[in-house]
Amino acid sequence: MQLFVDTADISEIRKLAELGIVDGVTTNPSLVAKTGKKFRQVVDEILAVVDGPISTEVISVKAEEMVKEGKELAAIHPNIVVKVPMIAEGLKACRILSEEGVQVNMTLVFAANQALLCAKAGAAYVSPFIGRLDDIHHTGMEVIEDIVAIFDNYDFDTECLVASIRNPLHVQEAAVLGAHVATCPPSVLWQMVKHPLTDLGLERFLKDWESVPR
Ligand code: E4P
Repeated sequence: MQLFVDTADISEIRKLAELGIVDGVTTNPSLVAKTGKKFRQVVDEILAVVDGPISTEVISVKAEEMVKEGKELAAIHPNIVVKVPMIAEGLKACRILSEEGVQVNMTLVFAANQALLCAKAGAAYVSPFIGRLDDIHHTGMEVIEDIVAIFDNYDFDTECLVASIRNPLHVQEAAVLGAHVATCPPSVLWQMVKHPLTDLGLERFLKDWESVPR
């Protein structure tokens, strides 16, 4: 499973990249806005730290404008993946951009049928938002299970990129289901590192080592 970091905060990305576990980065307009920096500066900083797919989102809602914006984003660097919202105009844009060799990540996906349409339109990734589904009393992970099965049934090349992750269990369950990618807030990746028994065990090893004659 590939692990992406779901943030535009370069210091968080840098710290996690040092662990050697970051395959890519996803951003969205809200995450970029939080940095208070210019969009291009944010993108350049991320590209300098992570050599993998970096998702940046179009803000147009008409296919023609999405295509123009998507091409401009893709021209920044070969690692740029263009995020397009899952609306009818987004599907049109996805088909055009994909045929021109631009990698598209269809975002704001909440149902397996939406993911199926994205795959048909040539998306490289679909981003189902599981946390936002859980928030409204739906089981986000059931959507992941269905998407993975559908992509597998028909050998789609589209990857299921699990988004809106809220806790480490989301990542584990998505991995068990065979989702291709999980994009995680930095806090969740740090939670995944930790286990109280690891800390206790290390403390005991180091203490016992003090009694070993040297
Ligand atoms: C990433 O691609 C999504 O934009 C992000 O995971 C959404 O997360 P949220 O529901 O916590 O805002």
